[in-house]
Amino acid sequence: MSDTSENSPADGSSKTRCWALIPCAGSGSRAGLDSPKQYQTLAGKPMVLHTLAAFDAVSRLTGILVVVASGDAFFSSRMTTWQVADCGGTTRAQSVAQGLEYLLQQGASGNDWVLVHDAARCLITPAQINHLIEACETDSVGGLLAHPLADTLKCALDGRVASTLARNDKWLAQTPQMFRIDLLRRALAQAGAQVTDESSAIESMGLQPLLVNGSAQNFKVTYPEDFALAHALLEARSAGIPGKGATT
Ligand code: CTP
Ligand code: MG
Repeated sequence: MSDTSENSPADGSSKTRCWALIPCAGSGSRAGLDSPKQYQTLAGKPMVLHTLAAFDAVSRLTGILVVVASGDAFFSSRMTTWQVADCGGTTRAQSVAQGLEYLLQQGASGNDWVLVHDAARCLITPAQINHLIEACETDSVGGLLAHPLADTLKCALDGRVASTLARNDKWLAQTPQMFRIDLLRRALAQAGAQVTDESSAIESMGLQPLLVNGSAQNFKVTYPEDFALAHALLEARSAGIPGKGATT
């Protein structure tokens, strides 16, 4: 957090500052492992370090904060360019809310933008992050990366299809999600600890976040089979295989 002057990014422009906040305090229960999924090694390094490498390559960011669980020593033995705060909560929303308070204590302004991004979305690219910033920084609300639904959507009842929903207006919410710090902290306080993304909290204030096209590759590593897919994509990118979402 080297730059604490209001609205004065490192490039000397008058643009509002942007911070990244990476919630990294989950246990990964759906992954079925005996340690948090974000620290599993994929393509040669722990998952969260792939995530952070993408954010490191975005020059528009003033600082990057990683929110880990209390007592998490993963970063303590590593040289980092990121701020690490062990203020993670019981839910993702609590981890984000506490991370926002930490950013403010460190000199961020309530008017600054924050990009909240799941540690477990390790396939994000610098180009996608920049695309979101460019789309949202002139927007009055903010927005999120999202992907139009490809499959037909079914509602289930007792293991059988109860109905089919039209998919043409359905999007899968991804991260980063970009909002002004003060708006987001008020929205999270109002929406409560169970919301699973920032957009839901903002929506509960009657606002309509901007949907910005992401990529199917920006999925969240969640279930056991997701690790092999993420590993294969990261390996393909590092080998420079065309069409595999190289990081530009
Ligand atoms: N997260 C967090 N604090 C929590 C819960 C989740 O910071 N109390 C983070 C996770 O580390 C992850 C991101 O939020 O990077 C997205 O959450 P999710 O994919 O649900 O991860 P987990 O909660 O760890 O997994 P699960 O729900 O399967 O237990
Ligand atoms: Mg979770």
